[in-house]
Amino acid sequence: MTARSTFYLTTPIYYVNARPHLGHAYTTIIADAMARYRRLAGDDVWFLTGTDEHGDKIAQAAARAGVSPQAYADEISSAFRAAWGALGITHDDFIRTTEPRHQKVVQAILQALRDAGEIYLDKYGGNYCFGCERFYTDKEIVDGKCPDHRTPLTYIEEENYFFKMSKYQGWLIEHIERHPDFIRPERYRNEILGFLRDPLQDLSISRPRTRLEWGIPLPFDDKYVTYVWFDALINYVSALGGPGDARFEKFWPHVQHLIGKDILKPHAVYWPCMLKAAGLPVYTHLNVHGYWNIGGGKMSKSVGNVVEALALKDRYGNDAFRYFVMREMAFGLDAAFSEEAFVGRLNADLANDLGNLVARATTLLAGFGTDGDVGASDAGDQAVARAAAEARRLVDAAMEEFAFQRALAEIWACIGAVNRYVDATQPWALAKDPARRGRLARVLLTLADVLQWLGIMLEPFLPDAAAKIRAAVGDARAPRLDAAVVGRLQTIPTVEKLSGLFPRIEEKNVDEQAAKAPAGVGRITIDEFSRVELRVAEVVAAEPVPKSKKLLKLTVSLGEEQRTMVAGIAEHYAPADLVGKKVVVVVNLEPAMLMGVESNGMVLAGSADGKLAVLTLDRDLPPGAKVR
Ligand code: MSP
Repeated sequence: MTARSTFYLTTPIYYVNARPHLGHAYTTIIADAMARYRRLAGDDVWFLTGTDEHGDKIAQAAARAGVSPQAYADEISSAFRAAWGALGITHDDFIRTTEPRHQKVVQAILQALRDAGEIYLDKYGGNYCFGCERFYTDKEIVDGKCPDHRTPLTYIEEENYFFKMSKYQGWLIEHIERHPDFIRPERYRNEILGFLRDPLQDLSISRPRTRLEWGIPLPFDDKYVTYVWFDALINYVSALGGPGDARFEKFWPHVQHLIGKDILKPHAVYWPCMLKAAGLPVYTHLNVHGYWNIGGGKMSKSVGNVVEALALKDRYGNDAFRYFVMREMAFGLDAAFSEEAFVGRLNADLANDLGNLVARATTLLAGFGTDGDVGASDAGDQAVARAAAEARRLVDAAMEEFAFQRALAEIWACIGAVNRYVDATQPWALAKDPARRGRLARVLLTLADVLQWLGIMLEPFLPDAAAKIRAAVGDARAPRLDAAVVGRLQTIPTVEKLSGLFPRIEEKNVDEQAAKAPAGVGRITIDEFSRVELRVAEVVAAEPVPKSKKLLKLTVSLGEEQRTMVAGIAEHYAPADLVGKKVVVVVNLEPAMLMGVESNGMVLAGSADGKLAVLTLDRDLPPGAKVR
């Protein structure tokens, strides 16, 4: 990450006409992970979120509920605050557009723009959508209806104030062209450049009070209130106290916005023009994410909407929820949310990969103690240190681009490498041999180092689990990224056993559904495939199964454990030919009795025209290595 020490990050301010749901939570969670990451890197961070409380939508929702708009806004704004509290969001400020501190800055900016001749009064007639709170041009209208709501538009004619946005079109295009990552990812930059190929209209920034009372009065004409988007965008400035305030001067030059793709245009077009006209620097980056789609889930308790989706955090925990949404959605693209995919990731990545590593490492460290001399490090230990250093570098690069899914994949690549290191070094076997105490101590030291590394690196993403890991290794320091170095520890710390960090979720419901699906027809999803656990295994012994022509009884090593697997390959392989071979096996099959021998897994083989070949590797991998 480039050396930058000040960082200001904003989320959209959410409308108070709907309760917090998955979409709002996603944006706020990734903003939180980013803010935590930058704090971990030592940056001076300001993280803002809040609620957008003016406009027709809110006024109408309040009227339907039979309460005043303010009472309505108070209630839902509190619900957002509470949701973020429950999710462990670490925002520094929460702005509400009904607060005087915001209204003051909006009015000051309006007055300054009016004084500078940037705002004029004009008559306007057009087709208006009350849901969107905006006029639609003929080109945008679909079948005479609002393209968004598909409801009829109302033709209204009125005098309004306009912001001279059109005059900034040339400047804006040039700015976007000169700063390739001003709007990112690139697809959204291209979308805006495409939009800017047509002439840009001036922006109506007022609403007559005869039509809408619920807004900030224009300082120069109290027959009008401010258009809700003009009001809302200014929150990013007003929350810092506005121009002249020390906080504004410090943080504004480093502002980055984070939004969903639905509100690209106001942020990528109106907002830079407004800032330019007001003589304020424009933001450094507009980071745009895609949309969560719901549906298509097969689980009996499947989520059907964005509110139910957010409720999964209560069922499975905040860390698991955070992990899932960050790992599953490629930043900038849409993603599908389903409970099966959630549970699949929880079991595979959290319970298996991370949970097992932490349980194994802490059990070893707690069980085999800290005394004795530490032997010299070998290539395997050094490879772990290198994998951790490489992962940290790649996480940093990913976070620079808001690529949360990549950052997590890099950390998990390192977790995989360390799990294989445990399999390969076999600390349980080392512990049985007094002559290898020094080697055991070196492996334990490396594992303690890895645990400390994880306790830091996971903090932005899985804050609760990271804190538990740090506590287990007795790391009481405030986590800092520059301390995430494997190879730093000189002595083995006292470690407490930490198991069940992420308990496995019973996949019974998924299994029941799968059992009903006809076998061998149709395509399966990647999630269905990922439930088949394939691993590399080394054949350590092979013998014929008595009275069977076809079956061989194989003893295979998966690194940590040995298993018996019965394979129907006796007509094609002599037992001796198989010993020492690395094969591919399915490890999560139900046990099966074959000619009196219990088989715990299945060896993969291909066959055609009476020939059979067992799957082997074309380069070496340790037993236990995952196959996908
Ligand atoms: N009040 C405006 C924003 C003003 S910002 C100056 C607004 N509010 S909103 O409540 O509708 O929130 C929209 C934002 O919520 C999206 O930009 C996105 O961040 C998030 N999401 C809402 N639904 C979403 C999905 N289904 N998927 C992902 N995020 C979405 O617009």
